[in-house]
Amino acid sequence: MTSPIYSRITGTGSYLPGSPVSNADLIKRHCLDSSDEWIVERTGIRMRYLAPDNVGASDLALEACRRALDAAGKTPMEVDLIIVATSTPDFVFPSTAAILQRKLGVSNSSPAFDLQAVCTGFAYAISVAEKFVRSGSTKCALVVGTEVFSRILDWKDRGTCVLFGDGSGAVVLEAGNAPGILSTALHADGSYSDILCVPGQVSGGLAIGDPFLRMDGQAVFKFAVKALAEVGEEVLANASMTIDQVDWMIPHQANIRIINSTAKKLGLSPDKAIITVDRHGNTSAASIPLALDEAVRSGKIRRGDKLLLEGVGGGFTWGAVLLEF
Ligand code: UT7
Repeated sequence: MTSPIYSRITGTGSYLPGSPVSNADLIKRHCLDSSDEWIVERTGIRMRYLAPDNVGASDLALEACRRALDAAGKTPMEVDLIIVATSTPDFVFPSTAAILQRKLGVSNSSPAFDLQAVCTGFAYAISVAEKFVRSGSTKCALVVGTEVFSRILDWKDRGTCVLFGDGSGAVVLEAGNAPGILSTALHADGSYSDILCVPGQVSGGLAIGDPFLRMDGQAVFKFAVKALAEVGEEVLANASMTIDQVDWMIPHQANIRIINSTAKKLGLSPDKAIITVDRHGNTSAASIPLALDEAVRSGKIRRGDKLLLEGVGGGFTWGAVLLEF
């Protein structure tokens, strides 16, 4: 009898462009009717990173992936699957994953594709990669979240433009004979697509519709807390585990109040949540792998820790991944 194949994160990496932009700097730069006090109190955000005009999602991903491969002790030619979660791709096509494959020098014709689940993108991407690994078709996957949300922000809309930042995070997911990923759960409900969207498209050489991010903040807030608590309980139940067995929750970093409310609903102490929203802002699909990498490199997260990754975002989409690091 052949033994089952499991998947395990063997390396993490991340990259943030340039220098941090404080709330005060952002307000001044865009003449916003806002204040550092309001932003910190309502969101927890103090700063974010913004990519220069000539830097795209694949450039940020390239740096994050190099660091993740280095941490895993892998060369680009050993990668046999690339999944890039992004809502701000370099182009309409080719995929950011294909561009990243070329930039990394992965010339072995293995599959590379983008995955679009907005802020839940990384949870979706790692869940999909895990299925490739467990099927036996992939031995070493690069799973990436990378975003340049600054490109789709309306700098006249103070209700959204102060919330987001740019960045990238990546993990190397390898086949092994011990878990690894313990349980995953993914969900979507398209009937909520209007509360968080970029309702535009490219047609006839023009941007048609509205090419900026639009959000009903309060509706998103309510949905997010409920969805994150429920999906956290779902992955724990699937793995026959309880919340007190979780060492760290790594939630999507949108708002400190959402993170604290979710922890409370799950019965998790707030100091067990990894927090980067104060320094990174909301980097959409990049926020979870960025937070994971930062916590690993700082020594907070150690081998053997049980981690609960949770995402929620446009679509609406939501999902969670429970794993042993
Ligand atoms: O990654 C995907 C998920 N995204 C999220 O999870 C975001 C979820 N939503 C939120 O985080 C919060 O709803 C926001 C941070 C977006 C807004 O916080 P809020 O406590 O829900 O504020 P609000 O929308 O109810 O607005 C309260 C007031 C309004 O003024 P009036 O109508 O009371 O006079 C807004 O116009 O705050 C005003 N406001 C601002 N004031 C200063 C909105 N944005 C700003 C701002 N600075 N940047």
